[in-house]
Amino acid sequence: VIRDPNSGVVAVVVGARPGIIKMSPVVRELERVGAEFFIAHSGQHYSFNMDKQFFDDLHLPAPRFTNPDDLAGTSHGRQTASMLIALEDAFLDGRPELVIVGGDANTSLAAALAARKLGLIVAHLESGLRSHDWRMPEEHNRVIIDHVSDVLFCPTELARDNLVADGVRGEIVVTGNTVVDAVLQNAEIARSTSDIRARLELTERDYFVLTFHREENTDDPGRLRSLVDCIQAVSERFRTPIIFPVHPRTVNRLEGLGLDTALASIDNLHLTSGLGYLDFAALLGSARLVMTDSGGIQEEACALRVPCVTLRDNTERPETLDVGSNAIAGVVPDSVVRSVEEMLRRPRDWRNPFGDGHAAERVVETCLARLGSQRGALAGSA
Ligand code: UD1
Repeated sequence: VIRDPNSGVVAVVVGARPGIIKMSPVVRELERVGAEFFIAHSGQHYSFNMDKQFFDDLHLPAPRFTNPDDLAGTSHGRQTASMLIALEDAFLDGRPELVIVGGDANTSLAAALAARKLGLIVAHLESGLRSHDWRMPEEHNRVIIDHVSDVLFCPTELARDNLVADGVRGEIVVTGNTVVDAVLQNAEIARSTSDIRARLELTERDYFVLTFHREENTDDPGRLRSLVDCIQAVSERFRTPIIFPVHPRTVNRLEGLGLDTALASIDNLHLTSGLGYLDFAALLGSARLVMTDSGGIQEEACALRVPCVTLRDNTERPETLDVGSNAIAGVVPDSVVRSVEEMLRRPRDWRNPFGDGHAAERVVETCLARLGSQRGALAGSA
């Protein structure tokens, strides 16, 4: 057994952009209570504006361990394998007793497997989400991570129900989503420090934000073409500025299909490279509406009371549909235009189903209690 039952150390694993955001309130809370912890970085995201910029914006301590491999352009299997090896090394070196992984990126899968195989306590943040869309690599990751975790932190009761239905072995704890903690902790800082609206010459509540980068959208040429048509249709119908921070995967695929020139010629559309956390939070917070295929943005928009139109056929965040903050539009132009019209008509007075902004406190309290009880049990059996 490699686990050191008395180390009391927590490892926090990050590596992909959304995970850095969701883990930031947990890191702050670990710091506040004086827990012994370190950050391990999988290396999945490596560009400055996908990674370091977020550490800076969110005032996170530098990772103690970083994957030495260059993961640019690697396949899912090679990327996950490299991260599995690097994170195992990090855990052997840092000797944590408990490892916190977050969300559904390949980083989290690699971390959960590495920790599981070393006999460490695996805690999964944002557990129990299901899109039931088996095309999505994230859905494979969610299911596998949930089944190998010891502690499953659910954002909502619905997520808990999914886990119960799946028959997972670990302890389930409903905490709310730390993405709400992050939004509430940072919204005011973002508004006062970011000059993004001035830079892009935007008027409050008079522009739309657009993002898409999911594999099932970008890597299917038919859907990618349709998305360009959707943007054209929204531009013609609403004549409102559309701000589109473009993910590197999306840039590659658009260029690959020669769609970048068609996109550049759409009226009212403003392309930017990926934005930092504070700039994006400020941009989103003052938008009239957001169109996205991101999961985290569906939640952030809900918390910030910005209407959301989801450019997918389903969502693993159905709570947003129940409270009325989000509409599923797919990638068909007519349907997207109709969804935008409908969301603009709706009052923005929905309830936020993702918690009260104190999820990280519950997460850290549960993790520390778990370390203590594990030690007690081992001492008792000695
Ligand atoms: C990953 C997550 C996804 C999350 C997204 C946020 C998985 C399976 N998916 O997808 O859930 O919403 O992160 O961004 O893990 N690239 C760069 N610079 C970077 C990172 C990526 O140029 O810093 C390019 C590379 O060409 C890379 C491609 O983007 O091949 C895709 O990156 P990857 O990490 O494989 O997946 P994401 O699409 O970012």
